[in-house]
Amino acid sequence: MSKISKRILAISNLVPQGCDVVWDICCDHGLIGREVLSSRLKSKVIFIDQVHSIIVKLKLTLKTSYIPDRYKIINSKAEQFDFQNKHQSNCYIVAGIGGELSLLILEQIEKSLKENDNFIFSVHKNHLKLRELLIQKGFKLASERLIAENNIFYEVLLVSKSAPNEITRIGSFIWDEFGDDEEIYLKQQIKYYQKKCRYNPGSSDILQAYQELAKNKQVFTS
Ligand SMILES: C[S@@+](CC[C@H](N)C(=O)[O-])C[C@H]1O[C@@H](n2cnc3c(N)ncnc32)[C@H](O)[C@@H]1O
Repeated sequence: MSKISKRILAISNLVPQGCDVVWDICCDHGLIGREVLSSRLKSKVIFIDQVHSIIVKLKLTLKTSYIPDRYKIINSKAEQFDFQNKHQSNCYIVAGIGGELSLLILEQIEKSLKENDNFIFSVHKNHLKLRELLIQKGFKLASERLIAENNIFYEVLLVSKSAPNEITRIGSFIWDEFGDDEEIYLKQQIKYYQKKCRYNPGSSDILQAYQELAKNKQVFTS
């Protein structure tokens, strides 16, 4: 396998130990699930993608590589798939897609969600919408990380209904270790919401929350 990206490693490290089934949803090449197969020796992995040619290729790749035979591959639109299953604990990984689709997938999975189930989200757009929906649906935060890779920032969240911490709109743990990456990301978010507020004053509270954080972290912003 080629060099694993920081983002994929961070996602796979968040998968709870001992989880029965890990779902790599919208899997594409299946890099996340493949990493989970080699790092979580007790978990089965189910790959799902809507594109038939991707599934055919993935089947061949997995068959011809030294990947443990603990997986299943499904060709389906994730938001239409019936996730009902008999496993004790599932970890649903929803990564590399937009917030809107991830919300539809979340709502589909929620129909058969069990007490011990977790989600890992790493969406590339609409973080705020996703966080707000998770809060509204009563999800709690187990862990979250900010990953910077090739000048792109990823918020990675592990959530469940029974985790101990509140989810916040701008993130909490991601700012605890405050280094250069966090400072750049925070400035980016402030700039983005300053621009957005010019047309949509409804975003002023989120801008204020980021500005307050900048003040606490002694970050100078214009
Ligand atoms: C950018 S890749 C993400 C791959 C991987 N999850 C990651 O984070 O690296 C997006 C994948 O989502 C798949 N996809 C998009 N919409 C989907 C849907 N509604 N249901 C299932 N798969 C979908 C695409 O076919 C593509 O393979």
